[in-house]
Amino acid sequence: MSATARKSAPLPDDIRAMKGRAPIVSLTAYTTPMARMMDAQCDFVLVGDSVGMVLHGLPSTLGVTMEMMILHGQAVARGLSRAMMVIDMPFGSYEESPTLAFRNAARLLRETGAGAVKLEGGRHMAETIAFLVARGVPVMAHIGLTPQSVNTLGGYKVQGRGTAAEALLADARAVSDAGAFSVVLEKVPSALADRITAKIPIPTIGIGAGAGCDGQILVVDDMLGLFTAFKPKFVKRYATLGADGEAAIASYAAEVRAGTFPAPEHGFAEEAPN
Ligand code: KIV
Repeated sequence: MSATARKSAPLPDDIRAMKGRAPIVSLTAYTTPMARMMDAQCDFVLVGDSVGMVLHGLPSTLGVTMEMMILHGQAVARGLSRAMMVIDMPFGSYEESPTLAFRNAARLLRETGAGAVKLEGGRHMAETIAFLVARGVPVMAHIGLTPQSVNTLGGYKVQGRGTAAEALLADARAVSDAGAFSVVLEKVPSALADRITAKIPIPTIGIGAGAGCDGQILVVDDMLGLFTAFKPKFVKRYATLGADGEAAIASYAAEVRAGTFPAPEHGFAEEAPN
């Protein structure tokens, strides 16, 4: 399936122009109903590769494929009429060479209608970012904790503490100079995120990076409280859908076992009413 870009969606340049003017609001989405729910509130919606862990039960994002991203990207696109859609490039689809990255980024944009791709990495991805941008692919960068590198980072740790701060600032400058229109800062000390935000001309989008970033993003299932057993420190739960869902399913099970559901009003009469 090929999708065409939605006419009213903001462009990457509109998101870039929000720096210093208005906080940028974003969430992840993986399905049409979730995308519909957030379309009016978000400046951009990210089809994150977190879909692998959140919806498919994978242990990390490493098992996410292009096909999964395209399927979820198409679903999210159907739920958006206003917010820009950004889509993650999955592990293995861009690191090898700028040409491989272009081939896969072009496929993601063409087949989902996304307005931009996101990829993980700082200085070492600058050449690829410049290559994509020069060929018409808007890129959102992602530095700090980059979950696709969980095996080399040694876990989901805070990044940029102590002497690592300068390296992270250099990463931010490199992706900005390469032409990225914004950069996600994940799990970075708040003071360092503030410094980076002040020093680069593109918006920083924080997740676990404090209030000083130009925008914020959260995984929607986290902020809706869909997971009952797991809550990262940087997540605020705005709802308790997981606990509410468990209670609702328990009520349903009890009523089916007690014979009280379905009630007469949930059934159909033999004769259709006039
Ligand atoms: O995949 C994802 O959900 C992300 C966000 C956490 C920024 O990359």
